[in-house]
Amino acid sequence: MIIIRTVSELEGYVSRERNNGRSIGLVPTMGALHAGHLSLVEKAVKENDDVIVSVFVNPTQFNNPDDLASYPRTEEDDCRLLAKAGVSVAFVPAVEEMYPAGAKREKEFELGTAAEVMEGKFRPGHFQGVAQIVSRLFELCRPNRAYFGEKDFQQIAVIRNMVKSEGIDVDIIACPIKRADDGLALSSRNALLTPEQRAIAPEIHKALVDGVEYSKTHSVKETHDMVVDSINSHEGLDTEYFEIVDARTLLPVEEWSESPEVVGCITVFCGKVRLIDNIKFR
Ligand code: PAF
Repeated sequence: MIIIRTVSELEGYVSRERNNGRSIGLVPTMGALHAGHLSLVEKAVKENDDVIVSVFVNPTQFNNPDDLASYPRTEEDDCRLLAKAGVSVAFVPAVEEMYPAGAKREKEFELGTAAEVMEGKFRPGHFQGVAQIVSRLFELCRPNRAYFGEKDFQQIAVIRNMVKSEGIDVDIIACPIKRADDGLALSSRNALLTPEQRAIAPEIHKALVDGVEYSKTHSVKETHDMVVDSINSHEGLDTEYFEIVDARTLLPVEEWSESPEVVGCITVFCGKVRLIDNIKFR
């Protein structure tokens, strides 16, 4: 595995591989890699000649400076895991390399209504920052396929919209959520939990699973309230939002029959750590 830190070296690598007719898979990450990321990498390695994994904590998608400062950074471990997983290139740029003119937004992407709800509402500008970095990575890596985890269900919908509005030719591959044995969705942020917080965090997934069962005999609103009450009854957990939405539009549904595919998306503060998860209802 090669570690590349500059845009010019990455562009040289991509040109050579493309000229040799090799397919490229891209797995964009912010590092602090865990088994969830590695499942994306494993799929990418199977489906492409070359795999590039970017490890870059992107400042423009953070709307809270403390969140950016405390985001876990484990570059050495990340590179070791990626080499073992059979990755061709770890792209690990500095902020100045990705943003030579300073880490700020330069244009407004058309991301549709999917970017305005849930995360878009609670983290203003977040998806513009995601679109900015992901479109730049697509431009540099020219991947045939790019892999994203379904834990960030809304992010995938927004990236699909971005790819469409920017006319980028890439297959977006959504990969299932990986969970710890106790059900907690794997996330880089889990590393920030204290042992006590880690012990209660699985209650989020438990409440979602109970919610799916409950939904078979109860309305959308009753199910919503049951899940939120159940989570908030645990000291140290505080639901920021739980929305039951159409899986395509991400707009809320009021009746189960309104959409063939319904997903519940949730964000819960476990102390100061913001955890997200989702579950399929229909
Ligand atoms: O999902 C993430 O880790 C990030 O949002 C991404 C896609 C790597 C962009 O920085």
